[in-house]
Formats: sequence, C-alpha cells, structure tokens
Amino acid sequence: MKISVKKAVLPAAGLGTRFLPATKASPKEMLPIVDKPMIQYSVEEALSCGIKEFIIITGKYKRTIEDHFDSAFELEENLKRKGKKELLEKIITLNHIDFAYIRQRTPLGLGHAIVCAMPFVKDEPFAVLLSDDIIDPQETLLKDMIYIHEKYNAPVIALERVPRKEVQKYGVVACTPLPNEKDFKGRVFKITDMVEKPSPETAPSNLAIIGRYILTPDIFTHLKGLKPGKGGEIQLTDGLKSLLKKRQIYGYLFNGKRYDAGSKLGFLQATVELGLRHPELSGDFKKYLKDLISSFH
Ligand code: UTP
Repeated sequence: MKISVKKAVLPAAGLGTRFLPATKASPKEMLPIVDKPMIQYSVEEALSCGIKEFIIITGKYKRTIEDHFDSAFELEENLKRKGKKELLEKIITLNHIDFAYIRQRTPLGLGHAIVCAMPFVKDEPFAVLLSDDIIDPQETLLKDMIYIHEKYNAPVIALERVPRKEVQKYGVVACTPLPNEKDFKGRVFKITDMVEKPSPETAPSNLAIIGRYILTPDIFTHLKGLKPGKGGEIQLTDGLKSLLKKRQIYGYLFNGKRYDAGSKLGFLQATVELGLRHPELSGDFKKYLKDLISSFH
C-alpha cells in the first residue's frame, strides 16, 4: 500500500551558538543565503516533493520566522502600487501554504524538538528537514527518500560519506547495503546501529546522518522517555537507535551537494556557490571573485 508523506517538521528552536553574536536575538534559520532565509530553502525543497503542511518548531527570539511566512499587507500593497510585479511575486509565492508553529520552551535537543510536533503529526509518516543543511535545489534527495520510504514502508535517513576526522560532528551509522535494490544501486542501506558524535577511532563507519529524515509516528514513543545523551541534549539519533530494535530503518546515501550552513565555512560556501548561480548576480559576482582571486597572486 502506498503511503504518501504530506507533512514536514522543521525544527528551528536551537540556540545557533556557532553563529553568535548574529544569533543572539535573531534565529539562525532566518540568516539569508543570497536573498532567501535558510528556512525558505527547506520549505521550497519540501514543496517540490508534494508536501503540503509545515510544522515549524520555534523558540525564544524566533518570531521573525512566523512573520516571514505570513502575508505582509502593507508591503504587498506598496509593491502593487509601484508596479513592482516581480518583487511582489517573490513575497507572495508561499502565502497559500499551511504553517503550524509549536514552541519548544527549552531547547533540550533535536529529539525533544521532534516530540513537540507530535500533536500535529498525529499518526502519519512525516519528513524532517534541518534548515541549516542546505541541499542544492537541483538535487532530488527528499523525493528519493520518500520513494524509498514508500517502497519499503519504513523510516529513511539521509547519509553522507564524510572524512573520518569529521565524524564527531554527526550521528554515524553501521549499515549493510541492500544487494537487490535496483532503483538506487548501492545507495540504500539497512541500518544496524547508530551513534551520536563518536570519536574517529570508535565510529562504526564514516557514513554520517545529514539533516533529512522520513520518519514514522512510532518514533515518538521512543523519543518520549529518552534521557539526555551527547552534549546533555535529547538526541534524535538515540530515539532512532531505540526504534531500530523494533523495526528496520533504511539509510539513503546522498552523493550530491550539501552545504553545512550551520557552520561559518559552510554558510560562506553556500552563499558563494548559490550566488554564482543566481540569475541576477552570476556574471558580476563571477567577475568579482575572479578579480579577487587574481589579486592574491
Ligand atoms: P544544531 O545543533 O545544528 O543547531 O541543531 P543549534 O543547536 O541551533 O546550533 P549550534 O550547534 O548551537 O550552533 C539542528 C537543528 O535542530 C534544531 C536547530 O534549530 C537546528 O535547525 N534544534 C536543535 C531545535 O529545534 N531544538 C533543539 O533543542 C536543538
């Protein structure tokens, strides 16, 4: 039986400490990459997969996220009066989308943020997108994951091969490839174990969990009773590890372009690369970068 994923949960209640002081009073998820806040890239990615409902987990100082996805009457009228159709189009494209907001009172960790979405998710499978992982808009990662979820009727997590010295920044899995998987040969895995932020010496592999998940509602039972794990936070990885004892979880190896925009370097890389591809900027920005690089020699 086909189960379609109609809801997306976007946790955005973290403290964003790697971006302080910028994130002292403004959400990390609202930092713009070129001309759109990070969280809008995730919303557009999910929309392109047919997802219709969005549940955003917010916290203190996160009101601008709600304002961003709300209609802006005065601004819209002003642009209309001035005949600025293209700009108007840019700010109203998401006006018809359903957003629900839930406040995570204390940022106890990603696992806890997901539990906060339970009253809205109810008993359906759902996607989780971490907005600080920007996936190249030309990639079909989430679409592929939904396909795999429907094929195996199971949770699916996105994986990326990372240098061993970097495994301590991620949840890392032990897994075996599915030998008979035809659609995504060699890229679908049965997960056998997972561990949050292991040291390079103890990590079970260099396959890291990245910020895209297709989860089933049974995850909530496994997250609810969890004690804080690595870093004193309630970790989604620990909940998944507990779920793994009850059912199969699949991993999908992503080999496209992802930007870890929650880190300063990744944020700058995303800005430069998406800037180079931006229709209004590409020529001038490329020339600027070329001149800048040649001035270093
Ligand atoms: P991160 O660990 O990358 O974000 O969480 P952070 O804690 O905000 O940032 P740093 O590490 O201090 O710089 C991944 C995602 O989970 C959300 C964050 O908002 C981010 O989108 N999150 C994290 C929550 O919603 N609640 C939490 O308690 C923790």
